[in-house]
Amino acid sequence: MNTAPQPGTTPARGAHADSDPAFFSCREMNSYYGESYVVQDVGFEIRQGEIIALLGRNGAGKTSTLRTIARLDDPQLKHGEIWLDHKSLHDMKAHEAAQHGVALVPEDRRIIAGLTVEENLKLAQIEGPIGWSFERIYEHFPRLAERRRQEGVTLSGGEQQMLAVARALARDIKLLLLDEPYEGLAPVIVQEIEAIVAEIKALGMTTIIVEQNVVAALELADRAIILDMGQIVFNGSAKDVMENAELRQEYLAI
Ligand SMILES: Nc1ncnc2c1ncn2[C@@H]1O[C@H](COP(=O)(O)OP(=O)(O)O)[C@@H](O)[C@H]1O
Ligand SMILES: [Mg+2]
Repeated sequence: MNTAPQPGTTPARGAHADSDPAFFSCREMNSYYGESYVVQDVGFEIRQGEIIALLGRNGAGKTSTLRTIARLDDPQLKHGEIWLDHKSLHDMKAHEAAQHGVALVPEDRRIIAGLTVEENLKLAQIEGPIGWSFERIYEHFPRLAERRRQEGVTLSGGEQQMLAVARALARDIKLLLLDEPYEGLAPVIVQEIEAIVAEIKALGMTTIIVEQNVVAALELADRAIILDMGQIVFNGSAKDVMENAELRQEYLAI
């Protein structure tokens, strides 16, 4: 995984003209499931190595925003720009965005049935470029090392979440999108996953984390973006959200 800033990189032709474009930026993203308008003029920037908590009530549009960035077919991006490391994601299909370094760890984890833990990891590396080696993964995820020959879908929920994250890191990625990584997991397992995410953060991985566990997400995040009905209603420091009870009550119901 190459997390060091890359000296000498220049904006690709066609990149917008800002003298110092953010590592990630999206502008006026508008996406739809059919007629249903779910991501409405969403725009924000992320510096390299920053971790953003993307928050909001159920149905606010968090998953749809991540899916739009990962360039999945649904919801469909009808208008807007998405840039990552000088390349325009808005022109890409999901597999191209993945090759350019976008990794979405979806809520349902999508562990592939019939494959062992290690085969799930190998499959992630097939298209390259390769990120973490198996050795490095097993060092950080000892539970996966113990279960490397076990079928992935037979793992516990927490272990499947670790595998889903490990599978993302097995590729050389630039942007990690985590959709509710703590969902449905016992508190003790949540702590383990939190420790892993904290390590990933320490390594400088640019990350967006969506979480219902707002406090856990804010403890990790540098910045928070709050969505409501498909629109951004707050973009500021994680600390400001922690300290603003009114904001939390209005948009996060905590
Ligand atoms: N596949 C889909 N088809 C149509 N509407 C959807 C689909 N998935 C989600 N939605 C709608 O899009 C809106 C945003 O959903 P979502 O992005 O999943 O919210 P969140 O992740 O914040 O809970 C909601 O109104 C939801 O009902
Ligand atoms: Mg969601």
